[in-house]
Amino acid sequence: MHFPQQRPRRLRRSETIRRMVRETILQVDDLIMPLFVVRGRGIRKEIPPMPGNYQLSVDQLIIEVKEIAALGIPAVLLFGIPEQKDAYGSEAYAKEGVIQQAVRAIKDSVSDLLVITDTCLCDYTSHGHCGVVEEGTVKNDPTLKLLAQAAVSQAEAGADIVAPSDMMDGRVAAIREALDTSGFEDVAIMSYAAKYASAFYGPFRVAADSTPQFGDRRSYQMDPANAAEALREVAMDIEEGADIVMVKPALAYLDVLWRVRTAFDVPVAAYNVSGEFAMVKAAARLGWLEEERAMFEILTAIKRAGADLILTYFAKDAAQRLRRIE
Ligand code: PBG
Repeated sequence: MHFPQQRPRRLRRSETIRRMVRETILQVDDLIMPLFVVRGRGIRKEIPPMPGNYQLSVDQLIIEVKEIAALGIPAVLLFGIPEQKDAYGSEAYAKEGVIQQAVRAIKDSVSDLLVITDTCLCDYTSHGHCGVVEEGTVKNDPTLKLLAQAAVSQAEAGADIVAPSDMMDGRVAAIREALDTSGFEDVAIMSYAAKYASAFYGPFRVAADSTPQFGDRRSYQMDPANAAEALREVAMDIEEGADIVMVKPALAYLDVLWRVRTAFDVPVAAYNVSGEFAMVKAAARLGWLEEERAMFEILTAIKRAGADLILTYFAKDAAQRLRRIE
């Protein structure tokens, strides 16, 4: 293809022609909004590094999810922040746990909104790790039982999809088996399949109060330098029964997302994480970039790289804007 026979600028001359040849169209249906639930009543506490995102008590959560559903956003992802943390994260699988109450309340008051629950222990453990700690290390196999229990209790509360984010080996199989033997064969699993040990989770750990009290998560989350390993992780999770696989974070891992997209044919999700959100918000506040354009560029890039679903704190902002355009 050569100039002057080819002049690519011909197809960029007006917004109308650009619309006609556009390859990637972001839709409200692509978005999933993460939310943080706390105990209490009347609580709506903004998370400082995540403007527009709040720790919500269940009554406030209902107001929020009604708005989200009215915008046409199909799903929310719930994180619970318990009152009491302990070594085994027992509120993660308590019948009256904060997340279980939240799911039931949403299911009682909003129809058609899909509820995804984050299945992990780190929000609930006193040490802040995603698994059982013995002799200063995070133990894999003893954790599986607790994760399976958490998933079943979330399903009992009414969760449509459970999303294990712990990165223990074998958790998808353990959860699938526990769900099936408890009669929840229709509850799907969205696994955080390729989840990296990332600095971009910083603001989330403020939001969920889940910073590890010692060490870090590098013995279970992936090394940011590895991509082939992500394909092995994804293959294992699919074999173990994952319905949807996730790459997380999104922006620094678009190559991984693309590789996963081309290697597998299950739906792929990408998590546009808290730090990625905070960077845009902070720069916009300083007047250093245009927030809305940056948001759409990022979300479109994540979709272009292969995501069918995008978990993002921008979900409400993007949906509001996309609906105005329609
Ligand atoms: C829990 C979990 C984390 C996130 C989602 N689930 C934190 C972590 O692994 O430290 C991060 C989400 C975000 O940064 O937006 N395991």
